[in-house]
Amino acid sequence: MSNVEAVFAATNNSELTASYDKWATSYEEDLVGHGGPSEAVAELTKYIALDAKILDAGCGTGLVGQLLAEQGYTNLEGLDLSTGMLDQAALKKCYNALHQQALGETLNFADATFDAIIIIGVFVMAHVRSNAFDELLRITKPDGFIVFTLRPEFYENTDFKPTMEALEKEGRWKLENVTEPFHGRFKAHPEVNLQVWIYRKTND
Ligand SMILES: C[S@@+](CC[C@H](N)C(=O)[O-])C[C@H]1O[C@@H](n2cnc3c(N)ncnc32)[C@H](O)[C@@H]1O
Repeated sequence: MSNVEAVFAATNNSELTASYDKWATSYEEDLVGHGGPSEAVAELTKYIALDAKILDAGCGTGLVGQLLAEQGYTNLEGLDLSTGMLDQAALKKCYNALHQQALGETLNFADATFDAIIIIGVFVMAHVRSNAFDELLRITKPDGFIVFTLRPEFYENTDFKPTMEALEKEGRWKLENVTEPFHGRFKAHPEVNLQVWIYRKTND
């Protein structure tokens, strides 16, 4: 089974962690240049000031942090389930802190810690479910941003669509923008398109 197949076949977080730990040192050979990080960072720069405190959640090897640093963002922290991936992210030297924690569970940060959270390539099959938004909203400052990628058909066919709509109806966040679908640029999956979603947490 390839590394890509293994992460999509995981049935729980320990299998997922083991698969990403194994893939960590060769992940970028497979995925460098994938469309999520560059398109999401380009969107984020339209909304978020350079001194913002940003959490890269599901940071992996740090492709997103590296692009943010190249844009001039300096107040960056990363979070991931896999210590193997975090070890690779540390080599990028763009994060002030790295945290081994699990999205979808209670996060070890105070309320309203971050100006923005960016989550790229993480809301996918067998990874993180839409229940993670509750904790992400809790640790985002009022008027702060949550930026993430989703495949269009994953959004339509899972509980992401009703969950995201319900959060807006409840007044917990407001959609600022969703991009048109763009090519994901995954070597192993050329058929995949992505969209970047940007929500602003409501000032409650
Ligand atoms: C496809 S990679 C994306 C990495 C990076 N954001 C990028 O765009 O290259 C998915 C990452 O999510 C992490 N991940 C999966 N489930 C997670 C969870 N519950 N909490 C935190 N990170 C998780 C994996 O360890 C992996 O590093």
